[in-house]
Amino acid sequence: MVKAQVYIYDKPFDGLPKEGDLKIVEEELKPLKDGEFLSEAVYLSVDPYMRGYAPFMKTGTPFIGGQIAIIRESKNSKFPVGKYCFGQFGWRSHTVSDGEVQPNEQLFQYVLPDFKGLSPSLGLGVLGMPGNTAYFGLLEICQPKAGETVVVSGAAGAVGSHVGQIAKLKGCKVIGIAGSDEKNKWLIDDLNFDHCINYKTDNIKHKLAELAPNGIDCYFDNVGGEVSSTIINQMNRFGRISVCGAIAAYNEKQVKANVVQPSVAFKQLKMEGFIVNRWNDRWFEGINKNLEWIQNGKLKYRETITYGFENMFHAFTDMLKGVNYGKAIVRVKSLVK
Ligand SMILES: NC(=O)c1ccc[n+]([C@@H]2O[C@H](COP(=O)([O-])OP(=O)(O)OC[C@H]3O[C@@H](n4cnc5c(N)ncnc54)[C@H](OP(=O)(O)O)[C@@H]3O)[C@@H](O)[C@H]2O)c1
Repeated sequence: MVKAQVYIYDKPFDGLPKEGDLKIVEEELKPLKDGEFLSEAVYLSVDPYMRGYAPFMKTGTPFIGGQIAIIRESKNSKFPVGKYCFGQFGWRSHTVSDGEVQPNEQLFQYVLPDFKGLSPSLGLGVLGMPGNTAYFGLLEICQPKAGETVVVSGAAGAVGSHVGQIAKLKGCKVIGIAGSDEKNKWLIDDLNFDHCINYKTDNIKHKLAELAPNGIDCYFDNVGGEVSSTIINQMNRFGRISVCGAIAAYNEKQVKANVVQPSVAFKQLKMEGFIVNRWNDRWFEGINKNLEWIQNGKLKYRETITYGFENMFHAFTDMLKGVNYGKAIVRVKSLVK
């Protein structure tokens, strides 16, 4: 009998999640039926959407999340033993699944494609959901053109650091907004961003006027709030805004920000939100393109790894506080080689 460790959403989050809000319970897994497989988590993801979705979750239910797991037993030929798979299994150590998408899930389960020797952990980041968020969210909604100026907030995170690099590949001038000078130095020195602004210490309005004298054509919005209002109010006519997330608001009951509608109307801006699963039918196109860019040396990635399933909560709140560079993940200790 396999026993799984499972994080339960025990108390509703109020502001930044607190240690006792989640609790770990043990769950006995039933023997496999035909069509099922048993997997063991190797890498687990901590993402901002978990905080954003929490108000819609019932307490007492397993906490949501994606993971890369190794298949330990299988009665499903699509999920062979020894392969790594991605599954939206939640924060749990072991899972029995039939490989089908549940009605409340938006991400499907799949055996990882060949990552050409790169770590399977990338299936949670640059070669997974955040990578596809950057790829489709920027290219499909902003449609950046060579010579245009692209601004991305949350720039040093999983999605933002990737968005900026794709915009550079498309020949754009890229300005990143992140929460520390060290992060901004990394974006400029290593990832080829043209300029960066520290939203905690710089005057964004003045800096943007100085760094983007010809205005802003595309804005990839990861944060919302006043940072985004300031950027949107400095955009060019017919600018495009891809609304990816609003992390500035996830821990807050109320966020005050200047209105953007006059700019949206008078400058005829296009502002469109998206959920990456809109492109589920093109999922592997995104992964393959991002893999090709990595292999050609055109796309870099970074992971911030926390070790230990028992440290997931800290990895989660560290990510919400901005400790991470690139993708924040957890590696289960017992499998560390
Ligand atoms: N629409 C979709 O389908 C989709 C898919 C994936 C992600 N998303 C969204 O994309 C955004 C980025 O996600 P990610 O996975 O790449 O996370 P991430 O950027 O790797 O991590 C979160 C980052 O947010 C920043 N942050 C925290 N509080 C902030 C605040 N009050 N204002 C500004 N920045 C703040 C922190 O960096 P600093 O040090 O810079 O503060 C932190 O590192 C999130 O809003 C997420 O919900 C949307």
